[in-house]
Amino acid sequence: MAAPIGIVGSGAVGRALAAHVVASGRHVVLCNSRSPVTLDSVVENLGPKASALETSAVAAADLVVLAVPWHMVVPLVEQLPPWHGRILVDATAQASHLRLPQPHDLGGLSSSEVVQASAAGARVVKAFCTLPASVLALPPASAAGRRVMFLSGDDAEARSAVSSLIDDIGYAAVDLGSLSTGSALQQPGGPLAGLDLRLPHDAVIE
Ligand SMILES: NC(=O)c1ccc[n+]([C@@H]2O[C@H](COP(=O)([O-])OP(=O)(O)OC[C@H]3O[C@@H](n4cnc5c(N)ncnc54)[C@H](OP(=O)(O)O)[C@@H]3O)[C@@H](O)[C@H]2O)c1
Repeated sequence: MAAPIGIVGSGAVGRALAAHVVASGRHVVLCNSRSPVTLDSVVENLGPKASALETSAVAAADLVVLAVPWHMVVPLVEQLPPWHGRILVDATAQASHLRLPQPHDLGGLSSSEVVQASAAGARVVKAFCTLPASVLALPPASAAGRRVMFLSGDDAEARSAVSSLIDDIGYAAVDLGSLSTGSALQQPGGPLAGLDLRLPHDAVIE
């Protein structure tokens, strides 16, 4: 059995991704900022392949998706268990309408590079942040093709693992390469933010 996917943050983005993960046959473990029992109804809706755990247990998964508000990212990540090379998928985005620090306030770093700097030992991959949650909640694939999901990261093996997960849950993974370049393209204000593209089912991505 494949290891469960951990999703830290069970709001609009976390729940949408959790639904796709369980639909693909994988197990998912979820948390929020409160107790796991507060996710009982979410877990019940997702079915037997989903469960809620404390944040530290969810963050101990081999592949952890981070889906919390941007202002929580650094304080939260700094408290999580050591990463020891495990994969951290950064689905977060700086919400420009909240007057939070903008990319130029991050010392020239993309937001995912800030996440990487906070999560020593994690292999950070940026993904799942270009589509609004309302679109993320829709089926990744339809007769029109597979929705494109971009990813970027500095570790080729981690990018490959996340690419496989993206493909398994029904999207068409498009690998943008390094964290700095790919994340700047994906984050709010970047050219790929909000782009809802589809590829035909028989498209070959090289
Ligand atoms: N919404 C979108 O369209 C969209 C699209 C792409 C990317 N994003 C980005 O994705 C991230 C999540 O967005 P969202 O819309 O899903 O937010 P959301 O609906 O507000 O959900 C945030 C989740 O994070 C949890 N959380 C907050 N602090 C936490 C902590 N310390 N430990 C564990 N869980 C914690 C919250 O728990 P509680 O329920 O207990 O508060 C909640 O479950 C944000 O960075 C956002 O910018 C959003």
